[in-house]
Amino acid sequence: MSQLLVVGNWKMNGSEATVAALLGELALAVQTSGVDVAVCPAYVHLGQAVKVVASSPIAVGAQDCSHRATGAYTGEVSPVMLFDMGCRWVILGHSERRQYHGESDALVAAKLAAAIEAGLSPIVCVGETREQRESGDAESVVAAQLLGALKAQAGIDSLVVAYEPVWAIGTGLTASPQQAQAMHAHIKLVLEGIAGVDAATARVLYGGSVKADNARELFAEEDIDGALVGGASLVASEFLSIVGAASI
Ligand code: 13P
Repeated sequence: MSQLLVVGNWKMNGSEATVAALLGELALAVQTSGVDVAVCPAYVHLGQAVKVVASSPIAVGAQDCSHRATGAYTGEVSPVMLFDMGCRWVILGHSERRQYHGESDALVAAKLAAAIEAGLSPIVCVGETREQRESGDAESVVAAQLLGALKAQAGIDSLVVAYEPVWAIGTGLTASPQQAQAMHAHIKLVLEGIAGVDAATARVLYGGSVKADNARELFAEEDIDGALVGGASLVASEFLSIVGAASI
């Protein structure tokens, strides 16, 4: 199995001062110790972040990107620009973008194609709502999101999928390790059936209220290949504990 991957999604948080402080601490502490680590600050802090982590093993990613490489798309940020300025990862299809910005699977697919073309490594987010889980539809919802984003792609090496049940994001409710493991195994099965996806090298991260005190038991599950961390990634000690749990 490939190395675990721990990614901090900072969402719409931070200032130049807090980015400098948080990344300064992480850059000093994170070693090349059998775990891949990335942080995804807001667009306006990406340039600063790339400079601060330049001599550390921490990579920088964006939280979204345009579905186009260049052109008249006011307010958008191109994946080509992101790669050019030192970003190596991009989160796509996060549930907050699906919920607040109406992103469809088709748009996620178009962004994914543009991101791959630009050389970025994509983290494709999927996950069901509480209602969908309660009505027994969680697996079919996640399968449809995966197929919608991935089935028309030309070819994807080193794909990363993040399973983020919407009911566990920012709520303090975490999927139990067993619930997460069951869905991750399902995701890997679905990936095996999608042409162009190398399921054997794909990593499936768990996201949704991951903290220092639950990371270890999540990472102990066979098909949990890392974490996409929201709130806890804004606190250096918490994030470093999660990275530490992944390095063992
Ligand atoms: P929390 O860790 O704050 O629940 O957020 C998860 C998330 O949405 C990461 O992308």
